Amino acid sequence: MSSNTDARIIIALDFKDEASTLALVAQLKPSLCKLKVGKELFVRCGPSLVKKLIKQGFDVFLDLKFHDIPNTVAAACQAAADMGVWMVNVHASGGRKMMTYAKEAIEQCQHKPLLIGVTVLTSLSRQDISEIGLDLEPSEQVLRLAKLAYDSGLDGVVCSPQEASMLKQNIAQDFCLVTPGVRPKGADIGDQQRIMTPSQALAQGSDYLVIGRPITAHPEPIQALQAIITSLK
Ligand code: C5P
Repeated sequence: MSSNTDARIIIALDFKDEASTLALVAQLKPSLCKLKVGKELFVRCGPSLVKKLIKQGFDVFLDLKFHDIPNTVAAACQAAADMGVWMVNVHASGGRKMMTYAKEAIEQCQHKPLLIGVTVLTSLSRQDISEIGLDLEPSEQVLRLAKLAYDSGLDGVVCSPQEASMLKQNIAQDFCLVTPGVRPKGADIGDQQRIMTPSQALAQGSDYLVIGRPITAHPEPIQALQAIITSLK
């Protein structure tokens, strides 16, 4: 699906209710940013909130990371497309058939969101993935799953900024990379571990930067957003 704007910042709306979400969104502009709705907000507020955000002109990334049998994931992706979202994602570890079904389902819709794969969750260490039967470095598994996502027709993957240049080089320059773990200079790191500044992340090959608390928890969110945009010029 084509984007409403060329904004490269996706604001993570990690709020617990509709009122606080809409209060923040009222201070933002679709020309400056896109919005990400994740599991908590979606489970609490549902499609009606997503539709309100879209109606206000925002591109919405529905970050529900679907992972199930191919038929179920394809149907869920179709439902997301019908809602009008700009981007939706699935776990690449669901396999080629699941991803192919999902892509084919979206292709039949009037609105065609970008379909993005999740490779290895950045919360998983080498030891964590060995406990689930994968005896290799997380970065090797990231590359393997990203290649599978590309071969299955997906538009891109979520990855850490540290992996972005490796993926662009090994897969394709037009494979869309969506990166969280971004912090402007001087911002609180919070629970993120391996961070990069917005301009470093773009230089590494990120296409879209997912940024939450440095904007949503800032006393002046629009100023924080504008400062980040200025730092990218
Ligand atoms: O507030 P902050 O900028 O850390 O928010 C980052 C957002 O990106 C959150 O919604 C978080 O769940 C998401 N995310 C992440 N790391 C990943 C995948 C998603 O931080 N590997």
